[in-house]
Amino acid sequence: MAADGGIPAQPLPVAARAPGKCIVFGEHAVVHGAPALVMAIDLETQLFARAAPATSLNSDAEAVRENPYFREGLARAWPDGPPLAVRAVSRIPRGAGLGSSAAFSAALVAALGAVTGGIARRDLAQRAFEVERAAQGVGSPTDTAASVAGGCVALNGGDGPPLWSVRTDERAWEVRRVPDPGWVWVVAHSGIRRATGDQVRAVGRRLASADGAALLERFRTVAREGIAAVVREDRAAVAARMRENQALLTEVGVSHPRLEALLAAAAPAAEAAKITGAGGGGSIVVLPIPGREVDLTRRLARAGGLPFVVRPAPHGAGLIESGVRP
Ligand code: PMV
Repeated sequence: MAADGGIPAQPLPVAARAPGKCIVFGEHAVVHGAPALVMAIDLETQLFARAAPATSLNSDAEAVRENPYFREGLARAWPDGPPLAVRAVSRIPRGAGLGSSAAFSAALVAALGAVTGGIARRDLAQRAFEVERAAQGVGSPTDTAASVAGGCVALNGGDGPPLWSVRTDERAWEVRRVPDPGWVWVVAHSGIRRATGDQVRAVGRRLASADGAALLERFRTVAREGIAAVVREDRAAVAARMRENQALLTEVGVSHPRLEALLAAAAPAAEAAKITGAGGGGSIVVLPIPGREVDLTRRLARAGGLPFVVRPAPHGAGLIESGVRP
């Protein structure tokens, strides 16, 4: 079962981890089949599951009904299983566009997959996506693909080795490995939480309007060229495509004054900066001027953001084998 680097079988208790993510190109358009580039980041969720008299998440028994990710994860990966006490801890801010729900879904499915005999990585990618999509109602497998694969991946783009495809009844997304250029990135959370589903539905309406097809084509071109620039390790071209992508995100209405303030604060220490994730709040991603990372985080913090210096996390969701228990 672990032949593809999948999750091996392990009895309860089990501990798993999964990274958050940062979308560099193509958010929103990827929901409609356009390419995207996403990287797993070295902020992660850790999750520990053990047998218990009643099912709970972080000691909350109501979470089975009230937390849609927990509910959908149990329904899909633990349908008739006995009660579990699950504990999850995370360094990923919630509702920030940095993949906290994808990391939780991937870690939960990985942990329960281990207990049910192991799970191949492509099945983990599909099932973690189904959990997130059922919980949100809409969306693409971008976040869960990064959390399951680790490193950098392209959806519907790039020419690297194919990893797997993830599908709904209506659409499939091809996931391919993109080599990590080894750059340091900075992300900053605006502090404004928002629901991804609402943002995705609003942009969907915009893309269904008269000029929607032309707009989607511009998203496609920017992401395709951006992915090629990352593969060539061409920072100037990556920065130019990030700026173009930001202009498109503003045009479809997902910017916010707080995000604009963070983008302005980043500018003197950045090669480029843009919204990452659904927008309307959430976070920005910055390609720093090399050597200016600390200055950049100070500027972002002074502007009211919560900054993190991040690198792509090399490994996707997996078991924690060291005995470390969250
Ligand atoms: O959850 P967020 O904020 O990272 O948004 C995910 C990216 C979207 O393209 C907006 C939605 C999706 O499912 O791809």
